[in-house]
Amino acid sequence: MDEVKPPPPMVSTNEASRRTPKNVRRLALLTAGGDAPGMNAAARAVVRTAGGAGLEVMGVQRGFEGLIYGNFEPLANRAVSNVIQRGGTILETSRSPQFAMEAARARAAENLTYRGVNGLVVIGGDGSLRAARAFASESGMSVMLIPASIDNDVPSTDYSIGFDTAVNTALEAIDRIRDTAFAGDRLFFVEVMGRDSGFIALSVAIGGGAEAVVVPEIPFDIDDLCRRIEDSQVRGKRSSIIVVSEGPRTGGAIAIANAVAEQVGMQSRVVVLGHIQRGGAPTARDRMTASRMGAAAAMAFIEQRPSSLIAEKDSRIVLVPFTEVADKPQPLDQSLIDLVYSLSI
Ligand code: F6P
Repeated sequence: MDEVKPPPPMVSTNEASRRTPKNVRRLALLTAGGDAPGMNAAARAVVRTAGGAGLEVMGVQRGFEGLIYGNFEPLANRAVSNVIQRGGTILETSRSPQFAMEAARARAAENLTYRGVNGLVVIGGDGSLRAARAFASESGMSVMLIPASIDNDVPSTDYSIGFDTAVNTALEAIDRIRDTAFAGDRLFFVEVMGRDSGFIALSVAIGGGAEAVVVPEIPFDIDDLCRRIEDSQVRGKRSSIIVVSEGPRTGGAIAIANAVAEQVGMQSRVVVLGHIQRGGAPTARDRMTASRMGAAAAMAFIEQRPSSLIAEKDSRIVLVPFTEVADKPQPLDQSLIDLVYSLSI
């Protein structure tokens, strides 16, 4: 969890591009893509920081779809009461394939301009970041992106809101699974979220004391996994937990369990955690980061910063102008993968 202290001053990674001439008086706020615990806490911080500085905020319904269809209305300070502890998103969200089309983005810009809005805050993941960047460059509007994704895979930020809650939710399940695995000398495959990203799986594997981890970033090797399972039995382990990221790149826990059964003749049980990892009350870490990032996003308009990602770097909240955002998320740390195995001997 972040240490409790006043938010540090925001810094831009590029002082030369700090200022933009836009004077935003009314901004729109939306949540997009997969929801993440902490989105409401971030929205609350945007509304109240902007409101405190005399800026009006319009809440957009169901992500970018709401921009295209003009579904937005004023969001006052009291509208974000009693939401800091709630999972999901009070603004609702959607994945919007339509917004990938330039014509839809132009329509969204027209809707905003018509309502006197010239700033936009997007709370979302890597797909939302791409959409926000395209929208900012085509419309000339100031856009701030607050990274929120349980996958923690938004580029150019150390942290995305929701990750800590998702990992803790999965760990709670793993602890329970471990009780029964140990009691019955069983092999369990536990599937966690993250079809393109192994950050959840890796953290859950380390925190849950798993025997192996399968992530989308690293090609899955059935022989290697079977050898690890057999070796652990030779070392006297009678129960094992293998954490697997969901999705086509790993094949998923059921397919892997079947392949292992075929090769080493061992029976196992499979638990697919699924969307329970996306819901629930945000942890202290997520509420704190969401509040800091939300406040920083609103301040960015007041200080007339260029369109930016609100990022966490080395525990500080910083602005990374869209022009400087990396194309890919940070890679998985190989030393953490090694740690799973070195600690499961
Ligand atoms: O939002 C990220 C995520 O939860 C991934 O972890 C997961 O692979 C995917 O979304 C699931 O998407 P959907 O809810 O659309 O099935």
